[in-house]
Amino acid sequence: MSSSSTTASSSSNRVVIFDTTLRDGEQCPGATMTFEDKLSTAVMLDDMGVDIIEAGFPIASEGDFEAVSEIARQTKRATVAGLARAIEADIARAGAAVRHAKRPRIHTFVSTSPIHLAHQMRKSEDEVLDIISRTVTQARGLVDDVEWSAMDATRTPIDYLCRCVEAAIRAGATTINLPDTVGYALPDEYRAMFSQVRERVPQADKAIFSVHCHNDLGLAVANSLAGLEGGARQIECTINGIGERAGNAALEEVVMAIKTRGDGLPYATGIDSTWLTRASKQVSAVTAFPVQYNKAIVGRNAFAHESGIHQDGMLKNASTYEIMTPESVGVSKTSLVMGKHSGRHAFKEKLRELGYELGDNALQDAFKRFKDLADRKKHVYDEDLVSLVDEEMVHA
Ligand code: KIV
Ligand code: ZN
Repeated sequence: MSSSSTTASSSSNRVVIFDTTLRDGEQCPGATMTFEDKLSTAVMLDDMGVDIIEAGFPIASEGDFEAVSEIARQTKRATVAGLARAIEADIARAGAAVRHAKRPRIHTFVSTSPIHLAHQMRKSEDEVLDIISRTVTQARGLVDDVEWSAMDATRTPIDYLCRCVEAAIRAGATTINLPDTVGYALPDEYRAMFSQVRERVPQADKAIFSVHCHNDLGLAVANSLAGLEGGARQIECTINGIGERAGNAALEEVVMAIKTRGDGLPYATGIDSTWLTRASKQVSAVTAFPVQYNKAIVGRNAFAHESGIHQDGMLKNASTYEIMTPESVGVSKTSLVMGKHSGRHAFKEKLRELGYELGDNALQDAFKRFKDLADRKKHVYDEDLVSLVDEEMVHA
């Protein structure tokens, strides 16, 4: 399995997966992880084939510094990144935290939009350009792999954004990330931003371009995929889509969209998708964030069918209502949930699974009694079916 951004370029179809569960993911209220949780999550991310693990924000706290340093020491394959603002002390701290990694990366960022420059940074455009050159140069003095991000890129005028990207590449940035920090962009706009920047900035081909999308309008995954069409080849994402506010693009969704729709999305990632369910469960456990039942790919209903029509189709051929196999994401099998929408075919199959073969009349009676029960009871469990059939046999 090839790793690190050095193997991806806009002319190749390999997409680098940059996981930021331990940094942007941890930034969402209530998702704080312990040192041990971070370490075990990083080991899992490395095992499943993530190319880059953003392990934390080393200047944020002593604990974050320690966690990033230990992840850097223990990670066998992936690049380990530490985040830094465009501040000398941040960059030095990030450099110190990642220095024991086999493949260290410093990820430094600065805001570029007029709103952020006026209200947050209180700096002029020229001052910010100067900061970019200075801080990227400093980071390149510490590591060979430097990512630079234009915070709030999608609300930055394209001319100024191009000047910023040019300054970052000249100073030695090897990855350029253009985040949709506030989750405002539409897919076509996001794709066009990458195409334009890559067309207009001299030496743009020296860097890998990266997407980083927030989900405020529910478009994080769609925007990330659109960015690939504009030439980006790194996707920043998190397990279960956790992250600031409405979260980041969900890693499992991005990976399975690429894997399932090779016809429309001619790309490849290095992720072993059979880890996805396990990864989702682990991140949910360590953050205590539940995964919504109908969450794409990893929700508990993602491979469950209740309606009679769907269950009948599934029993005849799984491709009728499933576009990927449960095994491909690490789920052992599809579940046919028995409820008031279920049909006779699924009911009969379920009874067979439970060890009952009923004749036509007994089956008909049992099915009627099952429907009555399902109208009264929210969940019909296997035990309910067993007692229903046992009663049927007593009365027969
Ligand atoms: O959303 C964002 O802009 C970020 C940057 C730090 C990359 O998380
Ligand atoms: Zn972010």
